[in-house]
Amino acid sequence: MSSTPVDYDLDPADRRPAWDRTWEVASPDWDATGMRRIVAEDLSPVLDVGCGNGVLAESLPPRSRWIGLDSSPAQLAQATAGRLVRADARRLPFGDAVFGAVVCHWMLYHFDHPAEVITEAHRVLRPGGLFLASTSARINDPELAPQGYPATTFDAENAPAIAASVFGDQAVEVEAWDGPYLLLPNAAAVQRYVRHHFLPPEAADSVTAPLTLTKRGCFVWARKH
Ligand SMILES: C[S@@+](CC[C@H](N)C(=O)[O-])C[C@H]1O[C@@H](n2cnc3c(N)ncnc32)[C@H](O)[C@@H]1O
Repeated sequence: MSSTPVDYDLDPADRRPAWDRTWEVASPDWDATGMRRIVAEDLSPVLDVGCGNGVLAESLPPRSRWIGLDSSPAQLAQATAGRLVRADARRLPFGDAVFGAVVCHWMLYHFDHPAEVITEAHRVLRPGGLFLASTSARINDPELAPQGYPATTFDAENAPAIAASVFGDQAVEVEAWDGPYLLLPNAAAVQRYVRHHFLPPEAADSVTAPLTLTKRGCFVWARKH
């Protein structure tokens, strides 16, 4: 099991921006789906750890206070919304119990010990606040990765237990997804997707476009008591 490489400043113009939201033809709209409990409970401020280009802020109502934190200058340079902070997720530059929600979307697999980041998230959350993380499953994209993806330090198979190690078993809830949510319209899109997901280039040769992809992964929720 290993952490996923962090290449956001080494390769900012290619791999990461290769994702195209127009591929999400039947998606649950991951950003909006994930944020709906945070919006419904009017939890604020929201700390978006590993915010990337800050797209999550679009899923919040204007009255919410959103703060995006990321360690990558290249990612933060693409963000336009809200207050942005450049920092390491393992040492959040905030006091205890100040956030209504802390979100770690598709980023905890970058750490050898993701529980360190979750411990920081727990520290900065107010009692009653919500932690939310998302990640993909090893059995994601079976059409392109029939053998499955290698285990990472934070995937759908191990994420609930890791979150529970910080928040406690009773505090954690899992919401899984498994469906034909993505349509790669042509061969170029398949190649971009393969690159974006660190798959070997030959994976694109084994399929025919247009390609419907089965997406599998989960949200992990945890309430701070
Ligand atoms: C896959 S991107 C996810 C971006 C965003 N959360 C989203 O869902 O679109 C992972 C992000 O984690 C950030 N990241 C990686 N290591 C980090 C660290 N030690 N501290 C803060 N952010 C980090 C990267 O710079 C990158 O923007």
